[in-house]
Amino acid sequence: MILSFTCALLLFVAVHTFLSAHSRRNLRRLHVPTACTVLFFLLPIALLLSACGGSGSGGGGSNSAPIASLSATSYTFNGQMTGTTSAAQSFQLSNLGNGPLQISSVGLSGSNASSFTVSTGANACATTLAVNGSCFIYITFNPAAVANCSATLTVSDNSATPTQSIALTGAATPGPGANQTPDTRAAAMVTLMTQAEKLQLVQGGVTTNNTYGYTVPRGAAGWVPGNTRLAIPELYLADGSVGVGNGVGPATALPSSLANAASWDLNEATKYGNIIGTELADYGINVNLGGNINLIGREPRDGRTFETKGEDPILAGKIAAAHLKAIQAQHIIGDIKHFAFNDQETGRTTANAIIDERSGRETDLLAFEIGIKDSGVQSVMCSYNLTNGQYDCENQYLLNQVLKGDLNFPGFVMSDWWATESTVNAALNGLDQEQPNQQYFASLGQAITNTQVPQSRLDNMVQRILRAMYAVGLFDNPQNIQPVPFAADAAVAQELEESGAVLLQNGNNLLPLNASTIQSIAVISGHADTSVLSGGGSAQVQPNGGGLIQATQPCPPCWAQVIWDPSSPLQAIQAIAPNATVTFNDGTNLSSAAALAQSSQVAIVFVTVWSSEGMDQPSIEIQTIDQAQITYPGSQAVLVNAVTTANPNTIVILENGGPVQVPLIRPSDALLEAWYPGQNGGSAIADLLFGKTNPSGKLPVTFPMSDSQLPRPVIPQPTPDGLPFPVNYTEGLNVGYKYFDANNLTPWFPFGFGLSYTTFTMTNAKLANNLSSASNPNFQVTFTLTNTGARAGAEVPQVYLGMPAALNEPPKRLVGWQKVPLSAGAAQQVTIEVDQNDSSQPMSYWNTTTESWTVSPGVYTIYLGNSSVPSSLTTVGTLTVN
Ligand code: BGC
Repeated sequence: MILSFTCALLLFVAVHTFLSAHSRRNLRRLHVPTACTVLFFLLPIALLLSACGGSGSGGGGSNSAPIASLSATSYTFNGQMTGTTSAAQSFQLSNLGNGPLQISSVGLSGSNASSFTVSTGANACATTLAVNGSCFIYITFNPAAVANCSATLTVSDNSATPTQSIALTGAATPGPGANQTPDTRAAAMVTLMTQAEKLQLVQGGVTTNNTYGYTVPRGAAGWVPGNTRLAIPELYLADGSVGVGNGVGPATALPSSLANAASWDLNEATKYGNIIGTELADYGINVNLGGNINLIGREPRDGRTFETKGEDPILAGKIAAAHLKAIQAQHIIGDIKHFAFNDQETGRTTANAIIDERSGRETDLLAFEIGIKDSGVQSVMCSYNLTNGQYDCENQYLLNQVLKGDLNFPGFVMSDWWATESTVNAALNGLDQEQPNQQYFASLGQAITNTQVPQSRLDNMVQRILRAMYAVGLFDNPQNIQPVPFAADAAVAQELEESGAVLLQNGNNLLPLNASTIQSIAVISGHADTSVLSGGGSAQVQPNGGGLIQATQPCPPCWAQVIWDPSSPLQAIQAIAPNATVTFNDGTNLSSAAALAQSSQVAIVFVTVWSSEGMDQPSIEIQTIDQAQITYPGSQAVLVNAVTTANPNTIVILENGGPVQVPLIRPSDALLEAWYPGQNGGSAIADLLFGKTNPSGKLPVTFPMSDSQLPRPVIPQPTPDGLPFPVNYTEGLNVGYKYFDANNLTPWFPFGFGLSYTTFTMTNAKLANNLSSASNPNFQVTFTLTNTGARAGAEVPQVYLGMPAALNEPPKRLVGWQKVPLSAGAAQQVTIEVDQNDSSQPMSYWNTTTESWTVSPGVYTIYLGNSSVPSSLTTVGTLTVN
């Protein structure tokens, strides 16, 4: 016990010191002895047996004292039961043991013990609890019983050698047990809560109104206090788009979310979400703010493109859903954001997206629809901007009509940080939780008293938050704070990067390099001697091992840091080619960089483009971006030109957030899009360059030739008066490649494009029409995929659909794909099935008359190929819907 308290004290001091220093601008790392960490967080969690009672419909009651450890053979938990109830209730006891606990008897005794029954159910306690196991005892009160009752629950450890010092933690949770639905459990809990308890749950716990410099427990971005009386857990909310963010602690820096989308592989996306979920859980964070699905093809210069999943609603929706599902599997509430049309950072709090209903539903909102339906994500973050004149966090159409109405979203809507604009409007129009503080919802109680907001609305907000907590298992699964398995997670990060990097050019088949014959390699610029670049803002990960931090904080956004993840491409290249002379030049002196390139067999030049929340790139063109000189004190385009001119065997590596255009690069050069490559990015790049891994990523975003090819060549700017300014989405349905298709524009590199070190053919394509099936209407594209080259690799066959002409849809939309690995020379029959009733609504348009997804009569054309560009597609056939 003394040890426990000593540990607790030490930890408290450590946490306090950390939190005092923490701010969003100044993130530090926390090191705490693991054993102490576990004990500290276990100790204060009371083992409660809540009471029946209260009056009327039942509820309320007193709690037992915390019981922290077991050291004898028999233990008794006292729960004083008082009051009356008219409804049956069951109490759930979760039980976490540090050692095997033999339960030989579970029983109730007391003056009215016969009023209760002890029952088993899902996850009921077996006779032996595993190490760190968890189980539940259901105690049901008989409502026909007396008004005043008392009972004692006894759990006995009758094992042959009773285990000493078994820590028992958990809580007896009022309301129906774990075998009931989240909604039923939440509804029962709502009836037990006082008004003050309800109000506490709909507001963030941050007590200042200061955008920067506030502190939150566990280094999170937000926090909602728990409720000891009712055993409602605290909520710790932290970012995690590309790994665990904020000041939570060192974490595995994953490659960009966009890089993961570029894998076009839902298994890799599940692994991605799993790293985020497990590391959040290891830190005791139970709400993740990471699901950025803004459909960035509308504004590819958006500084947050690296957090997103690309420009296509179906690809983005499916990748995001896989992330969110894997995160929620760790008993963490997932979050999808920023709802909606938050597609540019420039003036993000006053940008007013103007869009028609059909275009909205079929593009940005479709991505959300898929992400929500396929994952069961339990929270949605509304965004800073306005849509059609109403702020998104009080947007009746977006929140009540689309999200909670049409999509039947059962979870809760939280505001982006300080994105709440009012009390009454926000509450009435669908906001369920203000974050991170209570600037507006502090007056919600008064608004209810004044009858401006009905009580039922507050009850619904609370119901939604609680049901989210029940749905992911926050009540049923005690947290298990433990060290992050960094080595294992870094290996996954590397695999994720290798599956998402895109080979854009391979002039003269320069790649892969031959490790056994190459003699000299020049590695130039981009801090490639030590690091790889990462993206900034709230998604910023503090990489394991510490990052190389650039001193200046670029303005805009003026608060984010430029952090280089500690993974050296130079060292990884040298390790693969130990006999080659590998020399680094930082690229700041053009003539010495060119001289090194010239004297080397091969030159590898790194182009690094930093981007962040709170800013947009001034341009797609690297020449123009370089004027900001954030990662390089000159023009990287000029550097690339100097190197490629000096050495015909040049490979350009891009480390960047989203689409860029590198002028003057020649078709004969090799070009690898590495995105922000993450914790083991250096090793991943080296493996790709030498063919240890064959690149198989495909672009999830179009790379335009220039800004002039974009729907808005100049990003709409805020007005000096600070009032809302319009961002007219005149491209409507034509987002990303659809805009290029519709306007016959040839991009630099098209959506869906990516090379390999081998070649593939797709032959003998056939179309099967199963649209008349009542249970599963679908069509299938079957073909033979052959690896015609000499190396193993993976191809991503893509199915696009041309809609009936009368609908005025974009020329085609992506409706299906599959990533297929094949060994050299192998052939495989592949079938891609497109289900008419899938959440992605592949064959439907949004019918504004019926307000529903509708499959129109007409002729549908099916294309197969390996990118969106017409020249890489063949027509498989047509389908007629009558
Ligand atoms: C961002 C959100 C983020 C939140 C908390 C905001 O600035 O827009 O994406 O989750 O901060 O860090």
